Amino acid sequence: MLDIVIMAAGKGTRMKSNRPKVLHTLAGRPLLQHVLTMATGLGAESLITVTGHGAAEVEATMRAAFPSAPLAFVRQEPQLGTGHAVQQAVPVLHDGPDATTLILNGDVPLIEAATARALIEACCGRRLALLTIELPDATGYGRVVREGGEPGQSGTTGAAVRAIVEHKDATPAQRAIREVYTGMMAVPTAALKRWLAALNKDNAQGEYYLTDIVAMAVADGVPVVAAQPTSETEVLGVNSPLQLADLERRFQRTQAEALMEAGVRLADPARFDVRGELVCGSDVEIDVNCVFEGSVHVGDGVRIGANCVVRNARIAAGAVLHPFVHIDGESLGVRVGEAALVGPFARLRPGADLGPEVHIGNFVEVKNAQLARGAKANHLAYLGDATVGERVNYGAGSITANYDGANKHRTVIGDDVHVGSNCVLVAPLTVGAGATIGAGSTLGKDAPPGQLTVARARQASISGWQRPQKKR
Ligand code: UD1
Ligand code: CA
Repeated sequence: MLDIVIMAAGKGTRMKSNRPKVLHTLAGRPLLQHVLTMATGLGAESLITVTGHGAAEVEATMRAAFPSAPLAFVRQEPQLGTGHAVQQAVPVLHDGPDATTLILNGDVPLIEAATARALIEACCGRRLALLTIELPDATGYGRVVREGGEPGQSGTTGAAVRAIVEHKDATPAQRAIREVYTGMMAVPTAALKRWLAALNKDNAQGEYYLTDIVAMAVADGVPVVAAQPTSETEVLGVNSPLQLADLERRFQRTQAEALMEAGVRLADPARFDVRGELVCGSDVEIDVNCVFEGSVHVGDGVRIGANCVVRNARIAAGAVLHPFVHIDGESLGVRVGEAALVGPFARLRPGADLGPEVHIGNFVEVKNAQLARGAKANHLAYLGDATVGERVNYGAGSITANYDGANKHRTVIGDDVHVGSNCVLVAPLTVGAGATIGAGSTLGKDAPPGQLTVARARQASISGWQRPQKKR
């Protein structure tokens, strides 16, 4: 029987933000969502988040992110310390002979499942298991006080834990201890309830310290054990914009390394961001400063130029995104076909569906439009709500006028059509296969297949015409 309590009521004063701290994002997702995502994999009976500052917003955001997880929320108002936070969860903790409660922090986003499992196993419903780490500078942290020996050397690690002493309550000798409590622990639930009930706030900060339960466990003869994370990154918390940015870089580095391990060639892993999921085939090359959001699939041999932003899209094998391409599939998605060429400076919006070998050039915008094999729009054009046939050549400056101010209408362009430069296709409209549309035409009616259609004023020249002269 496992319950997980995530403390997330704190204000996050140092963020200097109106947004609740745990809703600040790392890799595009709220900090608390990272913790809950990891926690949902641990098989807990319930995931209890203690909320306070911005509670309603935090709860609504997490319910939307996890529609089917066993989420529970308890409010802590006012916030009287970490012990007081966990006290709020007591009524919803499950009882049972070996019931265990795992306590996590909503602002420590990169804690890994393996570490959490190790902590739960170390507890095993019978021991108090603390996650601790040695830091070169332990300022501000609770110090892990062990049996015997003067603290200060890491040599004390291994001796029995006696207590955790908060920085502000620590003696100079205790402050020299470098082993600190990370804020995460696994506790036998029955004992936790007993100890929480006995907490007081007789300390330097006048708070209910969760960490006081360590000395209570020792007094009760409950074994106290300590486990360590695999890396420091797992236990780093976010208290300031600088710490948030530092964790973001660490997280992005890890993702970049995993992709490079799988063969993806990143020009620079330090200038690469994935905010979501990026799946790459073989021989993918990605130049600097690209951002991937949502779900992005990239096929074999795809090359992505510098400064591309790609969200919710599938890029098929051999396609090339030249520099400065912006793709946003939103919920409809964007598809780029095999060996298609896109950009530089192209914009693909939701529902853009490019077939194989399609070319989309500079300053071309495509929205909710299917382009069949080999169609080309190479310069300064708009294709919205359109179906475009094979080998169509869509001239510079041409647009589909798809919106009449109230409703959207479709434009259908048959195979092998040639649309000249600077045309306006006023939808709904069909251009038959093989048609040619003269440059500068504004079409309000269908154009028949195989013919030249021109819809513009006829050119006239007036002989003997005199320019006006300035009056004397
Ligand atoms: C706490 C530990 C300290 C440890 C440190 C690790 C205690 C008393 N001290 O320090 O030993 O080294 O974490 O970062 O537990 N929170 C609430 N309600 C509250 C107070 C805090 O929900 O009333 C939440 C905060 O939002 C945060 C977490 O608990 O997510 C930790 O609070 P914080 O104030 O950062 O911890 P410290 O007391 O500084
Ligand atoms: Ca803190």
